[in-house]
Amino acid sequence: MVSFKELGLVNTREMFAKAIKGGYAIPAFNFNNMEQLQAIIKAAAETKSPVILQVSKGARNYANQTLLRYMAQGAVEYAKELGWENPQICLHLDHGDSFELCKSCVDFGFSSVMIDGSALPYEENIALTKQVVEYAHKYDVTVEAELGVLAGVEDEVQSEESHYTKPEEVIDFATRTGCDSLAISIGTSHGAYKFKPEQCTRDPKTGRLVPPPLAFDVLDAVMEKLPGFPIVLHGSSSVPQEYVDMINSYGGKLPDAVGIPEEQLRQASKSAVCKINIDSDSRLAFTAAVRKVFAENPGEFDPRKYCGPARDLMTELYKHKIINVLGSDGKA
Ligand code: G3H
Ligand code: 13P
Ligand code: ZN
Repeated sequence: MVSFKELGLVNTREMFAKAIKGGYAIPAFNFNNMEQLQAIIKAAAETKSPVILQVSKGARNYANQTLLRYMAQGAVEYAKELGWENPQICLHLDHGDSFELCKSCVDFGFSSVMIDGSALPYEENIALTKQVVEYAHKYDVTVEAELGVLAGVEDEVQSEESHYTKPEEVIDFATRTGCDSLAISIGTSHGAYKFKPEQCTRDPKTGRLVPPPLAFDVLDAVMEKLPGFPIVLHGSSSVPQEYVDMINSYGGKLPDAVGIPEEQLRQASKSAVCKINIDSDSRLAFTAAVRKVFAENPGEFDPRKYCGPARDLMTELYKHKIINVLGSDGKA
């Protein structure tokens, strides 16, 4: 058993309280490899932004849980080396799907875990979330839960309102589970194809897809039921068209990839939404940079020569999100 405190990490409690009060959101960036982690820490240190490092179950399987844990610990030291005196870094399990996985992360030095029971029947979601909360809180580890199902590309986002979080359930859910934050569904979804073309309109000038707006009425209703309670948005990549264009022009194939417009995320950041999850945008930046190097220099085979530019582009992306979208710069 290792406490996150020994690793120099922090949980989300104070981060979220300050973010809600200050009208900004904490970036939650997923990482699977060293370059992503370096880019996240460099961006956070240079902007003095609190940051959440997210590890999914898939990332644990890909990179090895022990290695990821020590990488996060190393990230704290790296941040200090970059001149960030008091780094506010949280290590968070993204989309935990069982009590055992969450417990293992708590025991392994994570400072926050998500238990995602959103696909379960309501009472089962409550029971599982409560079990995780009871364990995690013994060690001061904070817990994110989820209520409402994020739309997939197969769902009719505009018409299937039943997937959105039901505001009438949130008081009961938060009270009975004791969770520290709640991920809700208001129209975001995971990946680079958040909406089907038929759910969007097209900008006549650019021919680009324009997605339907997020359900801010649902967010408002949730905030009214749970004033000041930390709300989380998953699936919040914007799928920057410059990266999609770069990927496509250097031999990739991402037709009609579309994300959440940044103005809407900026608006959400000013509310009780205090954690915004971004993974796909980093994947796109990485891939765009690597494809460019390979297309321009097919003879290149030193990974530093293509992972380096990928890391630089991701650093730029993370700084942009922190400064221009979430507003968390200068808050740590
Ligand atoms: O919400 C999902 C995250 O983007 C993590 O994705 O399970 O492929 O690591 P992953
Ligand atoms: P994106 O796929 O929009 O980046 O969402 C990431 C996420 O929600 C991780 O939990
Ligand atoms: Zn997610």
